[in-house]
Amino acid sequence: MVHRTYGHLELAELPVPAVKDDEVLIRVKAAGVDPGAYYRMVGIPYLVRFMGFGFSRPNQPVAGGDVAGVVEKVGAKVTRLKVGDEVFGASEGSFAEFVVAKEGLLAHKPPNVSWEQAAAVPTSATTALRGVKTAGPGKKALVVGAGGGVGTFLVQLHEGEVTAVCSGAKADLVRKLGAAHVVDYTKDDLGTGRYDVIYDVYGGRDINVLRRRLTPNGKLILLGGKPKGKVIGIGRTLRAMLLNPFIRQQIVMLFVFPTTREFEELGERLADGTLVPALDRTFPLSETKEAIAHVMAGRAKGKSVITL
Ligand SMILES: NC(=O)c1ccc[n+]([C@@H]2O[C@H](COP(=O)([O-])OP(=O)(O)OC[C@H]3O[C@@H](n4cnc5c(N)ncnc54)[C@H](OP(=O)(O)O)[C@@H]3O)[C@@H](O)[C@H]2O)c1
Repeated sequence: MVHRTYGHLELAELPVPAVKDDEVLIRVKAAGVDPGAYYRMVGIPYLVRFMGFGFSRPNQPVAGGDVAGVVEKVGAKVTRLKVGDEVFGASEGSFAEFVVAKEGLLAHKPPNVSWEQAAAVPTSATTALRGVKTAGPGKKALVVGAGGGVGTFLVQLHEGEVTAVCSGAKADLVRKLGAAHVVDYTKDDLGTGRYDVIYDVYGGRDINVLRRRLTPNGKLILLGGKPKGKVIGIGRTLRAMLLNPFIRQQIVMLFVFPTTREFEELGERLADGTLVPALDRTFPLSETKEAIAHVMAGRAKGKSVITL
């Protein structure tokens, strides 16, 4: 699935990509979909373009960023992986039959984990894991946006009592994943409780609205955002950072670039069954646009995945 210009995605035939010394070629079995794929496809907010994704057109013409598949070829300096290994991780251009990825951004897929489950993990679960490590154990937490890609991992990974905020349609799912309480925001916004930690995955509420649900020394962890402007799209986060030195509560913004160590840690949790990705729908590669639209509409219960 190719985006040669921003905003336009189409199915096209391209040569199999060449492998550099520190890369491997992967035959893609499944590729996770998340809002990042949409922002990189449309190039909005424009900050995306300044972050190295390409100013006037995408540097990487193939869409997608998360992968699970089989190693087909290894570069000269690759030591940890060999042809035939089953892997998952981060690789720009994963909405394709073949993709190249840095050896350092891949981990072995546990044999008891499906391709779809493994492809659901890279961006969303590492973001959740980083959030949970920032929060620390034993805290009473509120997860805002609990029924989506990142939220369904947060509910499982947070080490303490979780109250999940989601629409009524996702209440059963988040309860099954371990949430002690559920607040349906369509009826009760964020509810009435106070929390040591709030993970804001949805990203559409004013910082002060979220702070009112925090304990006096609580931590607000900003993971997601609803870009309002076309240019920067992180105005709310910047305002929060300016506010931080003047308040007792702590506001932390996380922008996560995953590491192999995190993939390995998550792989261990997948293997022993203490982490189970909540899979929503799978889509064929030809329906990637529909898959992205499904996620961006907030309809996915957990993760949507492209399968090949
Ligand atoms: N910081 C990072 O490095 C990083 C990494 C990955 C993703 N992200 C960002 O994190 C955000 C979420 O990603 P995701 O993959 O979890 O997306 P997602 O699957 O679309 O989940 C977002 C969830 O928010 C819920 N929601 C919608 N309106 C809401 C409201 N008013 N209050 C509470 N929840 C509401 C949606 O479902 P319901 O309305 O049905 O409840 C949906 O489940 C995106 O902005 C993404 O770009 C950031």
